[in-house]
Amino acid sequence: MIKSITGTKDILPEDIQRWNFLESIVEKVFASFNYKEIRTPVFEETALFARGIGEATDIVGKEMYTFIDRSETSITLKPEMTASVVRAFVEHSLGTKQPLNKLFYISPMFRQERPQAGRFRQFHQFGAEAIGSNSPLLDAEMIQMAFDIFKLLGLKDVSVKINSLGVPESREKYKELLRNYLFDKKDNLSEDSRMRFEKNILRIFDSKIECDREIMKNAPLLIDYLDEESKNDFEIVKEALTRGNIPFEIDPKLVRGLDYYTKTTFEIVSEKVGSQSALCGGGRYDLLIEQLGGKPTPGVGFAAGIERILLACENEKAFSIPESSIDLYITRLDKELEKFVYDIASYFRRENFIVEIDYLDRSVKAQMREANKLGSRYVLFAGGEEFQNGLLNLKNMADGIQKTFDKNNLEEIKNYLKK
Ligand code: HAM
Repeated sequence: MIKSITGTKDILPEDIQRWNFLESIVEKVFASFNYKEIRTPVFEETALFARGIGEATDIVGKEMYTFIDRSETSITLKPEMTASVVRAFVEHSLGTKQPLNKLFYISPMFRQERPQAGRFRQFHQFGAEAIGSNSPLLDAEMIQMAFDIFKLLGLKDVSVKINSLGVPESREKYKELLRNYLFDKKDNLSEDSRMRFEKNILRIFDSKIECDREIMKNAPLLIDYLDEESKNDFEIVKEALTRGNIPFEIDPKLVRGLDYYTKTTFEIVSEKVGSQSALCGGGRYDLLIEQLGGKPTPGVGFAAGIERILLACENEKAFSIPESSIDLYITRLDKELEKFVYDIASYFRRENFIVEIDYLDRSVKAQMREANKLGSRYVLFAGGEEFQNGLLNLKNMADGIQKTFDKNNLEEIKNYLKK
């Protein structure tokens, strides 16, 4: 038997209602902030992600699904959406059509990470990108939207962590300080962190390894060396969150795994999903658009992992989905009535009722059992003497009350069902 690929998951009919519920909340919240949906291809030229996310990141270095297609082009399945959205923004000159583009997406992503609870190789994100304004209120808006979505899902145990990574000038100066601090300690760092020391020094803060953590405990922090503009913007974000009653904590060690960030970055984590606790992450990327060939344009956004959020919801029993039910089950006595029942089912379906009939030649008793199992509000019965007299019998399954109708007057049944 051929099985699904490691790290991928089927979403079965029994799970889909939870996904639909989450997506309906996501769409509602994004709509209320006037974000418009964007869909981009599942694969892109590899160079887009290599340039956008950064060669020295784990995503580009170790995790991308990259292959050469039959026309010798290097293709990558999208590991995230920001680079793709920016590519679309530049390609279609969206910035000339309106000065601020507020976009959202719900889409599968692909990263070849080691699978574990809450970490998959095909996973799904919803997210938003606002391109065209440097207002720090938009940074706050991103956090607000994510927070609102989590609240509407009924999640309680989430915490918001924010940081500022400043602009490249202040960050470069700070990196020099960090390099000096680590210079005589670097032999005691883990092998990974020694590599990061050369290639991506800030990421050493992300290490979970004890010897690295010990060394980084006393490291200088970027937040203490911010430029004035980043500092002021960060204040505006903090004030907006406070006014919006969003509890947050400043995490000066939050460095994020993608290279495009400037100024505000944030994550919202759950206490209820184990080691893969980041439900969402995002921040400002004021230089990415020009890096990808557009005119200098500021941007900010976030993305959230749907599998992790649903896991957190399950662990917190955040919401429950009502049992599904149908409006009408049409049972029949004889095989000859099969076509008649099929046709009247079509009539009620066109009238927007959820209707089921038997396709398995079951006995009337078994059809009734099925109607019960499906939670049908009504059962319409065709057959026997009544049918020969031109009648159909309708039973209300909640109170057992039965009523007969002329089999040629379906409109009357429809009106009764609508009551
Ligand atoms: P990210 O932090 O790489 O950011 O991913 C965002 C979220 O996607 C994570 O917080 C997590 O919930 C989920 N996620 C990531 N990898 C996996 C995985 N292997 N399995 C399950 N869930 C996963 C970004 O992707 C940025 N594009 C966010 C952004 C948008 N920044 C600005 N705009």
